[in-house]
Amino acid sequence: MTSTIDRQQFPHGFTFGVATSSYQIEGATRLDGRGQSIWDTFCREPGRILDGSSGDVACDHYHRWETDLDLIRDLGVSAYRFSIAWPRVQPGGRGAANEKGLDFYDRLVDGMLARGLAPYATLYHWDLPQELQDEGGWASRDTAHRFAEYAAIVAGRLGDRVRSYATLNEPWCSSILSYQIGEHAPGLRDRRLALAAAHHLLLGHGLAVHAMRELVSADLGIVLNLNPAYPASDSPEDVLAARLSDGAFNRWFLDPVLRGEYPADMWEAYGADVPDVHEGDLAVTSGKIDFLGVNYYSRSVDSARGQVRPTESSYTQMGWEVYPQGLTDLLVRLENDYTLPPVFVTENGAAYPDELGADGVHDPERVRYFEGHLAAVAEAARQGVPVKGYFAWSLMDNFEWAHGYSKRFGLVYVDYGNQRRVLKDSALWYRALVTGTPTPVVVERAGD
Ligand code: FCB
Repeated sequence: MTSTIDRQQFPHGFTFGVATSSYQIEGATRLDGRGQSIWDTFCREPGRILDGSSGDVACDHYHRWETDLDLIRDLGVSAYRFSIAWPRVQPGGRGAANEKGLDFYDRLVDGMLARGLAPYATLYHWDLPQELQDEGGWASRDTAHRFAEYAAIVAGRLGDRVRSYATLNEPWCSSILSYQIGEHAPGLRDRRLALAAAHHLLLGHGLAVHAMRELVSADLGIVLNLNPAYPASDSPEDVLAARLSDGAFNRWFLDPVLRGEYPADMWEAYGADVPDVHEGDLAVTSGKIDFLGVNYYSRSVDSARGQVRPTESSYTQMGWEVYPQGLTDLLVRLENDYTLPPVFVTENGAAYPDELGADGVHDPERVRYFEGHLAAVAEAARQGVPVKGYFAWSLMDNFEWAHGYSKRFGLVYVDYGNQRRVLKDSALWYRALVTGTPTPVVVERAGD
């Protein structure tokens, strides 16, 4: 298999990076004053995590960060998107900073700079301090204010050494998936609480941006997971189903941030469950941002009878349809429907059942996934979307939330028995792409 995409197809100055998040890789959940997070609690509840595991050890990145940064540098990328664990910085979610927690990120950022990697920090990738959850978590308006204080502490310490600060990662997940669907911490099933959580997350985002503006001149923005919705047929019922799916997943988050309003059709559809929006809130949620981060994994195909799984498509181990065209469509649609700041694809990637063999890890499906989606990004740029960078999810295999360690998303394989890191074929392929060297021939899996 030879590659059809190369670096020349991306705009000048395009950033290539890799991404991770704190709870998924760090481990050391009780070290140096770190408080407990809602994920520590959730993992201890029987039946929540597929393999009964937790992030207690994960990739042991807290101790291995220097060699992990070497690994990133050696991949040839110029940027690293990581996240900061709020309970390391403020163990109970409020009050004075835990200096040892801040020290860790201080060293990490300096370590990136020393290796020529631009730090792209995310302040909230789901590890809320448990003490704030005990007071209602994101369903409580006060959490938005606590988040802005935490953001200011981090920005005050790391300052402009960080190139870019994203406030939130995927607020759809930390509200709907967590408070309505119950699959993520805190595991509730209540739509009214979920919509309150979503509003307070977006409010916290706006308050945090405002607080950080005073302290840094780094780029400030937010990361949304977007899932373009396609109707299963031209019937008005299916078209409406796709519109509602787009409204719930995408517009409910895009519109308050980029337009300062909630989408009217969804507001009506949610009836009595809509959040309590105070005067001025939407001016806060829609304060100026310097970039929009887009996480894209798949699309949905909707019909009046629910979601449809196209039979001709291929699927990842998560059961997600591989649909690169959706990424071009999504980026072009964002450019058409909104006044966009610069856009970064902050996550994109795939889980497959990798096996470590004597001659490495052959993951041709993942190579094809990246190849297709990078081509989709290049095409969106060609069509005029201001897309400035791409971060592969993920640097290495890690704790995949409710799936535990059963799903591997890494470019780098992690042998959890001994914490050895092994570059998969996809890592060699990505390195060749970003460094502009000929891409290696990818070994097909037997039977492919
Ligand atoms: C995204 C998350 C990320 C990872 C990928 C597979 O929703 O942001 O942490 O779990 O999915």
